[in-house]
Amino acid sequence: MRARLGPLELPNPVLAASGCAGAGRELAQFIDVARVGAIISKSIMTEPRTGNPAPRLAETPSGLLNSVGLQGPGVDAFLQRDLPWLLSRGARVVVSIAGQTVREYDALASRLSDAAGVSAVEINLSCPNAEDAGRPFGLDPATAGVVVAAVRGSLRYDVPVFAKLSPDVTDIVAVAGACVASGADGLSLINVLLGMAIDVRTMRPALAGAYGGLSGPAVRPVAVRCVWQVREAFPDVPIIGTGGVRTGRDALELLLAGASMVGVGTAIIHDPSACSRVLRELEEELAAIGVDRVADIIGQAHRRAPGVPRGFAWRT
Ligand SMILES: Cc1cc2nc3c(=O)[nH]c(=O)nc-3n(C[C@H](O)[C@H](O)[C@H](O)COP(=O)(O)O)c2cc1C
Repeated sequence: MRARLGPLELPNPVLAASGCAGAGRELAQFIDVARVGAIISKSIMTEPRTGNPAPRLAETPSGLLNSVGLQGPGVDAFLQRDLPWLLSRGARVVVSIAGQTVREYDALASRLSDAAGVSAVEINLSCPNAEDAGRPFGLDPATAGVVVAAVRGSLRYDVPVFAKLSPDVTDIVAVAGACVASGADGLSLINVLLGMAIDVRTMRPALAGAYGGLSGPAVRPVAVRCVWQVREAFPDVPIIGTGGVRTGRDALELLLAGASMVGVGTAIIHDPSACSRVLRELEEELAAIGVDRVADIIGQAHRRAPGVPRGFAWRT
């Protein structure tokens, strides 16, 4: 089950996605955090933040809307408390970072350069850019590239950098291309989709912040499509595929689309042991189809049937 993401090698390809397992400590009462491929931290910011006002979670058919916001203790507390704890438990840690300005991303990358034991950095590009009327950085290829270049330039050691993209764009391949050209070693697809629910009894938005991010099984086809498109355009760039994974079979679908590793997010909220279970189920799925190594299945859905033109094979 060993998995390789460019320069990063992990014992297995199932990761806890950012924001759904806190800083990892919360999972320890349910699973051995060292058994998860890696824990991706909740996105860390420079300062402590309380996040958005409640209510900030609303269930939707097969999905979850959240407007938790970037709640967290700030980078100093993370580095002093959470990172050492995770490392002491034998976990591999991918640190997700988020900023409101390019300078903040820059500062976070510098700060992380002082920390030992970071397996990779994931840049959350879905944060609102305070210098562009709150427009998320990841909506525009050029802006996304500027953030990636700033982080890459400020990291003083050679740790792999993944850019996490929003699916709320017209052309995710263009954003992916800009991130790779600016120094990203890999891509993480996808973050939540912007959504909204209205409580018809109160006739008010269900979330205090009106909009929220949609996640869970409802978004899996979007994640599969994004991973597929990016893999098709950049077959050599490693991808962490995330979005709606609830079972080992869901994980297998993202691997077939071209992900090298799979993130489990919302599923953890109703089943805190989801990462271990998905890994076990994925092992069973691979055994059932006679595949010995996870690496052999990555991107297999892109194989062309002999004589069948590309578009014909997957359009119905
Ligand atoms: C409550 C909640 C908080 C999240 N917080 C973050 C975050 O801090 N940074 C980030 O990059 N993604 C965050 N995400 C997005 C997830 O990491 C993941 O990309 C997305 O939810 C799709 O995967 P899923 O359907 O398995 O949850 C959050 C998702 C949820 C549900």
